[in-house]
Amino acid sequence: MKVSDKFEKVSELARRRGFFWPSYEIYGGVGGFICWGPLGALLKRRIEDKFRDIFLRRLNFYEVETPIIAPERVFKASGHIDNFKEPMVECSACKRKFRADHLLQEIAGISSQETDKMKLEDIGRSLNEHGVKCPECGGLLSEPKYFLTMFQTNIGPYSDNIGYGRPEAAQGIFTEFKRLYEQVRERLPIGFAQIGHALRNEISPRQGPIRLREFTIIDLEFFFDPENPKCHLLDEVADEKLRLILAENRLKGDEKPVELTVREIVNKGYVIVEWLAFFMALAKRLVTSLGIPEDKQHFIEKYPWERAHYSAQGFDQEVYLERWGWVEVAGFNYRTDYDLSGHMRESGVDMRVFKQSDKETVREEIKINPVIKNIKEDFADKAPEVIRMLQGINPEAILEALDKQGFFDLNGLKITPRHIEAVRVRVKEKGKRFIPHVIEPSFGSDRLAYAALEYAYTVKEDRVILKLPRDIAPIQLAVLPLVSRDGLPEKAKEVYSLLLDEGFYVEYDESGYIGKRYARFDEIGVPLCITIDYQTLRDDTVTIRDRDTWRQVRTKIAEMPPLLNKYFRFKINFEDLGTPHR
Ligand code: GLY
Repeated sequence: MKVSDKFEKVSELARRRGFFWPSYEIYGGVGGFICWGPLGALLKRRIEDKFRDIFLRRLNFYEVETPIIAPERVFKASGHIDNFKEPMVECSACKRKFRADHLLQEIAGISSQETDKMKLEDIGRSLNEHGVKCPECGGLLSEPKYFLTMFQTNIGPYSDNIGYGRPEAAQGIFTEFKRLYEQVRERLPIGFAQIGHALRNEISPRQGPIRLREFTIIDLEFFFDPENPKCHLLDEVADEKLRLILAENRLKGDEKPVELTVREIVNKGYVIVEWLAFFMALAKRLVTSLGIPEDKQHFIEKYPWERAHYSAQGFDQEVYLERWGWVEVAGFNYRTDYDLSGHMRESGVDMRVFKQSDKETVREEIKINPVIKNIKEDFADKAPEVIRMLQGINPEAILEALDKQGFFDLNGLKITPRHIEAVRVRVKEKGKRFIPHVIEPSFGSDRLAYAALEYAYTVKEDRVILKLPRDIAPIQLAVLPLVSRDGLPEKAKEVYSLLLDEGFYVEYDESGYIGKRYARFDEIGVPLCITIDYQTLRDDTVTIRDRDTWRQVRTKIAEMPPLLNKYFRFKINFEDLGTPHR
């Protein structure tokens, strides 16, 4: 008999009870897309809310929501058009397409560390040397070429107006940075996060919820002054121990994690910016709170050739999953001023912020004065808008464009030398202008939710218990009359209403034998079942049953709401909910 692994078991439960399943099954399925059902959507939301609590509410940072589609220029500026691509080969016989580096890893046994370093021609040569053929039909493979893994579309009915689905939520924060910065009254350091769908047109995803073409990304962009990079919150996490696999050890072939406190990591200079270690410590707390044991997670420092194009230092947080081994659930990157500089170059808009100081500096600056007469002649009723927009553009960008191509593209309007006059001015300022630097913690919400499910999946006496931590369980309480007669359902519905009014996620169920009902709720991770029995009719007490130990306590209905509130916030334990029953 075939023994199914955790992934198969979790997937079976997930599909049957409504956590997740592959999308579009009525049309044969499409790889890389999944649906989160009623329970799964709630689970994901609770995990995302934990992120909000730890990374936003407590740090006084903010969440924003920006579009999923962006015009091509955004991704030119961000470097994605040039860099967001993967090597691909096509089978000459069956025409299937594959990630060339994955074939080298899976068929030729070459490590990802090696393939990540390879240029396209190295990959082609290595495929030939190892005689790699199509894994589906054995056909000959083409030479590898790069495939841009962003979904391309047209914005509106114009074929030259190209847009892309965002491969990360970060760019929506960078493009709006100027306005966001003003809205927080020019405060640094400051963080803005976005939780939303991202799109990556993976070549051949075959890993269920682990490699998706559409997924939920949680991007936090943390902006700071590079001349003031100290983390003023370090003491809060200084003693937190992180399991770290350092790049310098990896180079020596040592992939064993070393356990170091955040203080040690900072003191030994293992992170370029202290904030990287700070956010990694918070991330460890987040992931641990999802039920993933500390020894099943670590941070691995990426080699330069493994890092994203914008990253000056990067760590992946990985968790161990039974089928796939170590899988990235979050990335921590020092993005420097890469993105804001890119957008400043491409849009011409000045992304610098001003820092006051006591010292007066004098500098020469180029100022652009609009030639109003000519602007009015050429742009008629758009002239006031042109004049206003010119104020916000970095003069250097205008002059560079005039020099290169004879005009500056101001959102589709051609600004030529006849519209502007460049003058040199001496500016006296007490302070300086600079582009903030960025540290980015970024999580995959779907992977976190899957990992939480895999670690929660437990079997006791042949029954599945989903031991999700109580604060991420989709349904918190089940209210069950012992039998469906003698006035017990009526009393149970009163209790059910009371708990709904108190804001809990509750289910009511009176169908079938009580033991079967307990099993149904154990299987979807409901932490507590509240049973209404004959004694309830006499003294207004109920039993509360613990999912994990099956122990029961008895408590007064009226006393339940404040006790349950404390219980779900980990302020009290199960035993504190009442007196032992039986
Ligand atoms: N924003 C994180 C990423 O692109 O992976």
